[in-house]
Amino acid sequence: MSTVLIKNGRIITAVDDYQADILIEDGRVRTIGKDIAVGDGVEVHDAAGLLVIPGGVDVHTHLDWEFGSARTVDTFETGTMAAAFGGTTTVVDFCNQNHGESPLVGLEDWYQRSASACIDVAAHMIMLDVNDQSLEDMKTLIHREGVSSFKLFMAYPGVLMLDDGALFKAMRMAGDNGAMICVHAENGGVIQVLVDEAVAAGNRSPKFHSLTRPTIMEGEATHRAIRISELAETPLYIVHLSAAEALAAVTEGRDRGIAVHAETCPHYLFLTDEEYDRPEFEGAKYVMTPPLRTHHHQEAMWRGLKTNDLQVISTDHCPFCFAEQPYGLKFSKQQGADDFSKIPNGAPGLETRLPLVFDGCVNDKGMSLNRFVELTSTTPAKLFGMFPKKGTIAVGTDGDIVLFDPDETWTITAAEHHSRIDYSLFEGRAVQGRVKKVFSRGNLVVDGTNWLGRAGGGEILKRSTSGVI
Ligand code: URP
Ligand code: ZN
Ligand code: ZN
Repeated sequence: MSTVLIKNGRIITAVDDYQADILIEDGRVRTIGKDIAVGDGVEVHDAAGLLVIPGGVDVHTHLDWEFGSARTVDTFETGTMAAAFGGTTTVVDFCNQNHGESPLVGLEDWYQRSASACIDVAAHMIMLDVNDQSLEDMKTLIHREGVSSFKLFMAYPGVLMLDDGALFKAMRMAGDNGAMICVHAENGGVIQVLVDEAVAAGNRSPKFHSLTRPTIMEGEATHRAIRISELAETPLYIVHLSAAEALAAVTEGRDRGIAVHAETCPHYLFLTDEEYDRPEFEGAKYVMTPPLRTHHHQEAMWRGLKTNDLQVISTDHCPFCFAEQPYGLKFSKQQGADDFSKIPNGAPGLETRLPLVFDGCVNDKGMSLNRFVELTSTTPAKLFGMFPKKGTIAVGTDGDIVLFDPDETWTITAAEHHSRIDYSLFEGRAVQGRVKKVFSRGNLVVDGTNWLGRAGGGEILKRSTSGVI
């Protein structure tokens, strides 16, 4: 493992902003100081004019994941390579229990799939069967495997959804054992009625995905999840929050001192439901759940970031190709060509999160560089039991570092991406701020447009207690 010196950079963490050199040895930050003297054999990188930030931490991805009749198109190799090019050096991915099986079996399967990861990865566990044995297995996952967070679905009836009793039992077990519960908060039962009615009436275009998932049903489920978690005494994390009503429920809970946290995603900050008016089947590219919302809700998301009721920006990277070829119908939105309810739900984002958030939050909305790092790296690392190993730059932390040019303007295009996905939600969008070099535990994996990482170069992280900030 090489020794690396990053010179002359402006180091930004969630709390610091200063000029210094960083020496990385054996994968960890060994020294931070002025004019660090080194001998021959040290790899030196000049970061003059660049920001030196902790590698991004994305705690919401679905890589190589079977979802109903579909499968996400990125393998762990392609997905984590894309992440690295986008300045993300740690991913927490969702693995799942299968119905009738132990979640430990689901984790074994995830270990095999994630062995090709190029950067460090960890797992959340999606619980599908909550019974005496699987509740016991949760303890094993937390204490033996370092899987200290679980996702529970209040949507997708018959596929992923749990009833309130199951939510409560899993939450109580998590709370008793230092784990966090992540919830997909939408009222799945009501939404299913609306979906069935729309399909029966012949309303089958992608726009009806959005029209059948009203924001008040996200608000209702968010409120319910918070109340149940309150009784269960577990920290709660609302994933992919998109609606003003849901944010109001989070704010109300936080104001009462409840341990509720929430993330939003770049697509809710930068896009609106106008995308569903695109011609032909193009709107299918934007079929993710929850759907894109109106400007009113988008404004609420920005407000939530300001008040810190939204603490994290994750991608919910869940890539299904638009075209059927070359990977096949299983990996494609075309499954729903005649019926929006059959379009695989999910969209890509891993490769563009940092530049988009930098451009939107810092350049456009005037947020501080510290807040940018906090939202994309430090807080997710803290909430999910990885801090300070991940999420900051300090003596002893992993050498996960991004050299970022705050001035370069460039245009997002899927043609230049490293993910296997064949489109970008942000095609043609100009952004200011670009990832130049990426180090994963001291190894230079991205150098401009050159890939220097390798499949299997990532480590699987066992996490400590989640939900503590
Ligand atoms: O549309 C989405 N978000 N797909 C991934 C599954 C989920 O609900 O996170
Ligand atoms: Zn979800
Ligand atoms: Zn998701």
